[in-house]
Amino acid sequence: MQAIKQQLNNAFEQVMISVSGLPTCNANVVTASKPEFGDYQVNGVMAIAKQMKCSPRELAQQVVDCISTQALGLIGRLEVAGPGFINVHIAGPFLLEQSNNILTDPSSFIRSAEISQKIAVDYSSPNLAKEMHVGHLRGTIIGDCLVRVLEKLGHHVIRQNHVGDWGTQFGMLITHLRELQTENNNTNLQLADLEVFYRDAKTRFDEDAEFASKSRLSVVKLQSGEAEYVRAWEMFINESLKHCETVYDKLGVTLTRSDLDSESRYNDDLPQVIADLDSAQLLSQSDGANCVFLNAFKGKNGELLPLIVQKTDGGYLYATTDLAAIRLRMSQQIHRSLYVVDARQSLHFQQVFAVARKAEFVDNSLSLEHIAYGTIMGKDGRPFRTRSGESIKLIDLLDEAVKQAHRLVREKNPNLNPDEMVHVANCVGIGAVKYADLSKNRTSDYVFDFDTMLSFEGNTAPYLLYAGARIHSLLSKAAGSGDIGRKILEIGEPAERALLVKNLQLPEVVHAVAMDCYPNQLCSFLYELAGLFMRFYEECPILRSTGETMASRLALAQLTVHTLEQGMDLLGIESLEKM
Ligand code: ARG
Repeated sequence: MQAIKQQLNNAFEQVMISVSGLPTCNANVVTASKPEFGDYQVNGVMAIAKQMKCSPRELAQQVVDCISTQALGLIGRLEVAGPGFINVHIAGPFLLEQSNNILTDPSSFIRSAEISQKIAVDYSSPNLAKEMHVGHLRGTIIGDCLVRVLEKLGHHVIRQNHVGDWGTQFGMLITHLRELQTENNNTNLQLADLEVFYRDAKTRFDEDAEFASKSRLSVVKLQSGEAEYVRAWEMFINESLKHCETVYDKLGVTLTRSDLDSESRYNDDLPQVIADLDSAQLLSQSDGANCVFLNAFKGKNGELLPLIVQKTDGGYLYATTDLAAIRLRMSQQIHRSLYVVDARQSLHFQQVFAVARKAEFVDNSLSLEHIAYGTIMGKDGRPFRTRSGESIKLIDLLDEAVKQAHRLVREKNPNLNPDEMVHVANCVGIGAVKYADLSKNRTSDYVFDFDTMLSFEGNTAPYLLYAGARIHSLLSKAAGSGDIGRKILEIGEPAERALLVKNLQLPEVVHAVAMDCYPNQLCSFLYELAGLFMRFYEECPILRSTGETMASRLALAQLTVHTLEQGMDLLGIESLEKM
């Protein structure tokens, strides 16, 4: 179905244009903030009245009088309210018809966007010298949700896992490896623990000047393609990717090797990026490094901030690779390029985007968007780390979540058989971690706390999973006792109506997430949906009712579980029929 909000915006905008004579109008339809205000509110009349210097209430009344008969199928009742709002009550028959269409053909629920766009999503993007740590959690799961939402709307999504696989760190690893190999006379040294290996190499790099200079030399040898160095590098990359894939697998994240868009891919383009910045007259030297200074970026004392694109020793930087990647995306005729990356890199992206525009690497056909997210904090109010202050491996965090979920599920439902128990614990544990993250406004920091995220109360994954399982159990009981409703026939009680209207709002929420990239909107929607179901369940007897009422209520329960599961799937969370 076409989102109701969209339909209302279209209908009201047409009328507002014809009433006001203005070339464009924004109806600004929002979901009503209180049930007394109807289902939706048209907020845009006031701004138009101000422009036309007329009374907003009178203008609102005129709009109401002129609303097209076509829109009247959708609209049950309108009233002018307050300083010039229009309250919209959706028509009952429309609600019934729409929901029954969805029950007959669930795939018709979320319609594709009018224009299918080509959208690159850069997400997860760990550095491959180490294992993924907790700092990669948010980018990985927010990106995964956005990719699911955009694909659901029929966009052509290009997943780009822009992994860090180049630079000094690899020189360090290779040097350390070569020395161990010589010491142990073993050319086939296995990497038992990449993390420990990295830590040892890093300590030596920081403490031993000779090791450090050997490491820099190794980078040069790697960059010039010396076979032994390239082989060692490939071994590290391969090992590291295996770790990433275990994490992706556990998280149910859809990234594969074919989505890799590694930094090293751009090596050959980097000299050209510098040359092009130079011919665009954007390069300046600062302490021997090549930099771009733009007036828009100033430090605290008003001094211009550099974007460094080439070091004194000729080496290229993170920014250079990003500029090369932007050019590639431009040549692929992409409409939007989303970078799901930590907010601490905001300045980097603002600078890179601005330089790319200034250098004409991109034009306005490509929208560059930094989808920034905040930091995961520990209960001590500091960035989340182990007790000894080290970064927490993502894999350990996920295993711990599943372990805690297992304990919880065993307590709540000891009758599940062992296989079911493992499956449920997995869904609850992983779902809880993902949902805790997705349900927060992504730009804020949040405190990582297993107890809160695994709670069965509040806006959590277990609460939503439980609501779904409860509906399934209701439906299977009804199936045993006879007729399962396939059609909603009546909207009797206010609780019934509220639940029905909420169900039908999924498409507009999904469109909003695709546009602004805030998955927490979808989480809030699902939480409200589950809450309205619980209210409906308490206020409207289902299995104790009879005939059409029972059939109709069962159909509403069926619709609700479908909406809930569709929404969870878009978040990347697996639903449960039993828990
Ligand atoms: N590898 C980087 C990190 O771990 C993130 C890369 C983000 N993507 C990009 N195009 N810069 O911080």
